Amino acid sequence: MTRGDRPGRPQPGERETVLVLDFGAQYSQLIARRVRELNVYSELVPFDAPLDRLRGARGLILSGGPDSVDGPGAPRLDPAVYRLGVPILGICYGMQLMAHQLGGRVVRAPQREFGPAEIRVARPGGLFQDLPAGQKVWMSHGDEVLEVPPGFETIATSAHAGRAAMADTARRLYAIQFHPEVAHTERGRDILRNFLYGVCGCTGTWRIASFIEQAIADIRARVGEGRVLAGLSGGVDSAVAALLIHRAIGDRLRCLFVDNGLLRKNEAEAVLETFDRSYHLAVRRIDAADRFLAALGSVVDPEEKRRVIGRVFVEVFEEAAGDLGQAGFLAQGTLYPDLIESTSFKGPSAVIKTHHNVGGLPSGMKLKLVEPLRELFKDEVRKVGRELGLDDRILMRHPFPGPGLAVRVIGEVTRARLGVLREVDAIFIEELRAAGLYEKTSQAFAVLLPVRTVGVMGDGRTYESVAALRAVSTDDFMTADWTRLPQDFLAKVSARIVNEVRGVNRVVYDVSSKPPATIEWE
Ligand code: XMP
Repeated sequence: MTRGDRPGRPQPGERETVLVLDFGAQYSQLIARRVRELNVYSELVPFDAPLDRLRGARGLILSGGPDSVDGPGAPRLDPAVYRLGVPILGICYGMQLMAHQLGGRVVRAPQREFGPAEIRVARPGGLFQDLPAGQKVWMSHGDEVLEVPPGFETIATSAHAGRAAMADTARRLYAIQFHPEVAHTERGRDILRNFLYGVCGCTGTWRIASFIEQAIADIRARVGEGRVLAGLSGGVDSAVAALLIHRAIGDRLRCLFVDNGLLRKNEAEAVLETFDRSYHLAVRRIDAADRFLAALGSVVDPEEKRRVIGRVFVEVFEEAAGDLGQAGFLAQGTLYPDLIESTSFKGPSAVIKTHHNVGGLPSGMKLKLVEPLRELFKDEVRKVGRELGLDDRILMRHPFPGPGLAVRVIGEVTRARLGVLREVDAIFIEELRAAGLYEKTSQAFAVLLPVRTVGVMGDGRTYESVAALRAVSTDDFMTADWTRLPQDFLAKVSARIVNEVRGVNRVVYDVSSKPPATIEWE
């Protein structure tokens, strides 16, 4: 199985789509999310996507990026794109690029502008239809457009960047120096709406309900009379994927739950019970803990752990799928951000971790993939789940990595160390729930460190492991801040852990944000 065997994406012409061309800004996918929030389907594509891919779109948005337009290796747009007749909105680097390529002048700004700024609309209508003349926006740039290209006019100005926005209305080319996708730009959403509806003529047909209908039709078309094997992990994504496929093909879906021995306390039982009882989806449990642990052996390298787990996982699946024969499909709860992170703008070097959903699939895999969620962001998956009647306990669950506790037991993964981590983690999560803090954090978990430190308990000296607690707040898991959990709460959790879990005599709290750290420790 290779990524090339995935089902073809729908062509942009088939549904109202606005494509975001990625020039490397950290937040490019936020633009696509904002567009979808305005009920227009949007995807992020590389800046050098083939013309044919762009042609059927209702509109194109050029993202920002870290380069200077005349810098070495700066990404450029194929000039033919400007002649497609498809409306274009350039944002930040996208604006500078448009100016540079179409005959304007871009220079280093005398003063770099980062943060809040005020713009004045010079030409109402178009992007600024029904919006006030003065607006607060968010700027982040070192270069600026000094002269707009022939055919363009300046449609908004700001104190520093003289030209905050420009347009060639005849060719439907628009550009803004500020970032409409961030919340600090007061009317950013309205500006995007004006572009989508006013300029591109979109009608706003992207809805979760229509997504479900379309997804069911797509699954039926792809699977035909075949059968699908779905692996449930206990997380939201695999649950929603399974429910969608079940709607589409009924009992030709078989669900497997692989107990890899790397799950949290009581997790396997809880998952099986929920699916059995609430959804009447018969789930077969495969106890493969010994196999995973044997394969992990004394591996300590995080990427190696991921590769081993990915490999064994597929082996177990393929064995279980033996009787599916040629008509065999494997369901995966791959989400859109998994695909973006794994096919990053800067190529494989910028991929931070091998996500076993995507990068870790061995090339010999015989099953074809069904990935009904591959176009969705996490919050959209939750909406789909809610529409399908999935209960909140699963819907609002924190994400859990495919390689499970193996990437949270730092160093060698042994049964004993997994056992210790399970107890620590269970106390942390139980206390978070009891204090009403679970829903207020995006993800929380414990990590077991491969260091022992000295402590004193009763009258005796101890020499035991350190456990770290991590809780983060984030919208998209691409960036995250550490959660400011109350000190009294942390004190209580720490005391319980040290008192109740044998083998741990010290607890630390992780105060690193992402970036520069990642959410998981490995
Ligand atoms: P990082 O650690 O990269 O994690 O900041 C971002 C989010 O992804 C989850 N994660 C994974 N999920 N397979 C998964 O399915 C993996 O290999 C994996 N690694 C990290 C992580 O828990 C966090 O929510």
